Amino acid sequence: MTAIPATFRAYVAEKVQDADGTARIERGVREFAETDLPPGEVEIRVAWSSVNYKDGLATTVDGKVARVSPIIPGIDLAGEVVASSDPVFSPGQSVLAHGYDIGVARHGGYTEYQRIPAEWVVPLDSRLTARDAMAIGTAGFTAAMSVVALEDRGLKPSDGPVLVTGASGGVGGTALAILADRGYEVWAATGKPDEADRLQGLGAAGILTRDEVTAAGKPLESERWAGAVDAVGAATLPYVLRTLRTGAAVAASGNASGPKLDTTVFPFILRGVALLGMDSVNQPIDRRRAIWDRLATDLRPRSLGDHVTEVTLDSLDDALDAILAGEARGRWVVRV
Ligand SMILES: NC(=O)c1ccc[n+]([C@@H]2O[C@H](COP(=O)([O-])OP(=O)(O)OC[C@H]3O[C@@H](n4cnc5c(N)ncnc54)[C@H](OP(=O)(O)O)[C@@H]3O)[C@@H](O)[C@H]2O)c1
Repeated sequence: MTAIPATFRAYVAEKVQDADGTARIERGVREFAETDLPPGEVEIRVAWSSVNYKDGLATTVDGKVARVSPIIPGIDLAGEVVASSDPVFSPGQSVLAHGYDIGVARHGGYTEYQRIPAEWVVPLDSRLTARDAMAIGTAGFTAAMSVVALEDRGLKPSDGPVLVTGASGGVGGTALAILADRGYEVWAATGKPDEADRLQGLGAAGILTRDEVTAAGKPLESERWAGAVDAVGAATLPYVLRTLRTGAAVAASGNASGPKLDTTVFPFILRGVALLGMDSVNQPIDRRRAIWDRLATDLRPRSLGDHVTEVTLDSLDDALDAILAGEARGRWVVRV
């Protein structure tokens, strides 16, 4: 027995081949059959999803993200349980889910209904609405993970300035907000000069231009940062590594500018710098639920809900294109 209607609306991306052999992605809203949803103990009426860089990649031919076709993209979702064969969850309960195979190797959040394995589901704290949860989303969760990783290693506000790169984006903006709220002197690196006022509003003490953090430099430069959060990758991570102070760490989660890392070993062997890899996808569920509990309390950004653009399943195309073009300014949430 299922509580999901026989058909409902979903945004689907499908790889098709033209007569000349060229592959392309056909995407848009379709009527979707309940019988085509994957298995899972928890049936969810999706209220909100969000747009992450990876969702953009999942709708491109060469994105190397979607492992099945057709796919309902959307690596995160929040909504209400309509049925659960696992007694941990009950109808009416607010929940969210993200990571694992969601929106990548099985259908994701851009749909009115979804079925998710119980061990992937996070109960939503009553202090967060489903919209709040998706305004945070995978990007904000990764930002929180990054802050937790740095602090677990000993970082504290009195240690000195902390750098956040790609600050206008989802991971960067949320990391900036969380760190500033916690009393850190946060510097924001951005490629968008017109975002400076907004980033200062989030708590940035200073702004670095993209040129400053992507230029070539010596293997080691003046020790500047007590810690850093980087989701940009190729272009900025080498700068971050060569300017971290002795013993400091960077939490690295992304490749918005590319995957290649061109550095020397000197920051590691002469300054004891640490590169902390952030993987939100495979984060074990207990730790995932604990971080979401903290996102509802001490890690909750004061600016939560600001700088959020709302789209619907019918207007997703533009947001997916924009995030791939590096045009993020805060977060997009999807009202399902
Ligand atoms: N490891 C994980 O678990 C995990 C989780 C979430 C996201 N991620 C990854 O983290 C990255 C960011 O995700 P997101 O959702 O925050 O994306 P986003 O909202 O698009 O933000 C990325 C930001 O990076 C900057 N940027 C983009 N292209 C750039 C370029 N060519 N050179 C330098 N900077 C550039 C831009 O900020 P400015 O213009 O302000 O510089 C952009 O807003 C992506 O690679 C994503 O796949 C990883």
